[in-house]
Amino acid sequence: MTNAKIYDIKPAIASNAHITQPIYQNMYQRSIAEPDVFWAEQATLFLNWQKPWHTVMDCDYSRGHIRWFEGGLLNVSENCLDRHLAERSDQVAIIWEGDDPTRDKKITYRELHQQVCQFANVLKAQGVSKGDCVCIYLPMIAEAAVVMLACTRIGSVHSIVFGGFSAEALKDRILDSNCQYVVCADIGYRGGKTTVIKANVDQAALGCPNLKSVIVIKNSDTDVAWFNGRDIWYHVAMQNASDHCPAVAMAAEDPLFILYTSGSTGKPKGVLHSTGGYLLYAAMTHKYVFDYHDGDIYWCTADIGWITGHSYMIYGPLCNGATTVLFEGVPTYPEADRFWRIIDKHQINIFYTAPTAIRALMAQGNDFVTRTNRSSLRILGSVGEPINPEAWEWYYHVVGDARCPVVDTWWQTETGGIMITPLPGAMALKPGSASLPFFGVKPEILDNQGNSLQGIAEGVLALSRSWPGQARSIYGDHQRFIDTYFKSYAGYYFTGDGVRRDEDGYYWITGRVDDVINVSGHRMGTAEIESALVLHTHVAEAAVVGYPHDIKGQGIYAFVTLNAGVQASEQLSKELVNLVRQEIGAIASPDIIQWTPALPKTRSGKIMRRILRKVAANELNGLGDTSTLADPSVVDNIIAHRVNK
Ligand code: PRX
Repeated sequence: MTNAKIYDIKPAIASNAHITQPIYQNMYQRSIAEPDVFWAEQATLFLNWQKPWHTVMDCDYSRGHIRWFEGGLLNVSENCLDRHLAERSDQVAIIWEGDDPTRDKKITYRELHQQVCQFANVLKAQGVSKGDCVCIYLPMIAEAAVVMLACTRIGSVHSIVFGGFSAEALKDRILDSNCQYVVCADIGYRGGKTTVIKANVDQAALGCPNLKSVIVIKNSDTDVAWFNGRDIWYHVAMQNASDHCPAVAMAAEDPLFILYTSGSTGKPKGVLHSTGGYLLYAAMTHKYVFDYHDGDIYWCTADIGWITGHSYMIYGPLCNGATTVLFEGVPTYPEADRFWRIIDKHQINIFYTAPTAIRALMAQGNDFVTRTNRSSLRILGSVGEPINPEAWEWYYHVVGDARCPVVDTWWQTETGGIMITPLPGAMALKPGSASLPFFGVKPEILDNQGNSLQGIAEGVLALSRSWPGQARSIYGDHQRFIDTYFKSYAGYYFTGDGVRRDEDGYYWITGRVDDVINVSGHRMGTAEIESALVLHTHVAEAAVVGYPHDIKGQGIYAFVTLNAGVQASEQLSKELVNLVRQEIGAIASPDIIQWTPALPKTRSGKIMRRILRKVAANELNGLGDTSTLADPSVVDNIIAHRVNK
């Protein structure tokens, strides 16, 4: 990567930036040399504490033991709302932009505080108390923020399930986290279509005997099925709720939320984040990575169902007193200029989206962009998957008119916040590189034996230091937490990503090294999709791999073996896609199904995925050693029937 293009730091950005090159170098060095002093300073700067901590950090990776700011007490909603009231009660906290371009609304900090207090009282009246888990299954409506913050106000733990997940996936998550309460809407709107929400909850509830109440936000005039004694209308409950609700003092290490994410094996895991460290890390990264200044209008296009929606749509920006935008719709509705129109309409300064959206919009041609103004933009961000240099250049030149630095931010659900990223006033940019570590982050490149490689190197990405935003456990299964992240390479947090470091010390993320795939920025375990496929009575076996896809980054390629005597057909293919939609959701639908009489296996019966990945990617010359296969002719058959799409 010696010839990578470099875009120098922009003087206009650096002159007003919180972090310039010398500041970065100085702060980074201190964050590594004196982490306790460094993080104590930041925790004082960014958060209001009801009681100070006695120990900044206490971590032991061998036990998956991660503790920050123990002894400290604080409340997240107080930090995101109450403390801003003196100075910015009339400032807009949330701009909500509807799927329908004629619908929007603005909520000030005073109004948000009021609604959060009211809903916190509604939750209490339902019996929710500190430590209880509340499942949130909502479309992108403004109330989503109210519900999240209300949970934090009374110390309940939220578990947000992405609105695109199926009833079955919702049920699994409700059961795993022992949620007795669900907050949902009647229906959702996306791209001019409606999505069922409440009906999915009703179906999921059939398998959730412990569910006590379902609070339903009325988002339409549609009639929905109603279960007296269990279902409650949000607007009715809110009418009678007091807007006075003291914020419960939470220990820094009390759980804040659970968020399910996919791993390479088994069912999705409930990643557990805790209160003090997470909030500090979300707020601090939000301010420095996006060079956020008071008065900026900030828009992150993520869904609240993902970690980006948690950290960079809600907690980070609101903790910093920002105006944050929540968009209900999709980038192409009513037309492919929707993002750029919204930027002009609300005069957005900082815009954060995913490469898959950039590629999809790039494919629509420049006119949709150039017919808008976008002069309010100052910083552009990218997240969720590697951004190919072509998409990066388009984003930078066409969307940002070569004026706005692009911050390509690498992080994960488990990291809570951004880990490797450019800081706009401090670093030159290389398209396709996530650049350099954030404060306190120490990336290591490991070889197969776990040796840390120095200088220019390529290997797996691990982190040797803890940081405040790090996940604390997998809900209900701490051993799985240890096994997944801390066992493969002793003394390190293992990320599951591959990485390269270049001659300037810049990091280039090369993608997952495990059986996790990234489809349109959505992280999925191939094992989950396989489990859904084999539920079909005609399916004997299935193996799923990712393959390069122009828009989605990776597409889903399924190799399926049918039971003896069953004929493959278009109809069966449809049934399998429907089954995956029903078990997981539309985001997991296979793009390609290839029928195969057998899967390539070793003599011990292990599927050789490496070969399937190569076939799916059409890299037929690089199949590698196939001599350990039980039956090498299986590969010839698979190659001969490879599906091109
Ligand atoms: O493979 C990396 C990829 O997304 C994974 C994390 O997915 P998730 O937990 O859903 O969080 C997504 C939002 C933070 C990572 O292991 N990834 C995320 N950001 C980038 C990335 N890959 C390359 N470059 C990025 N900027």
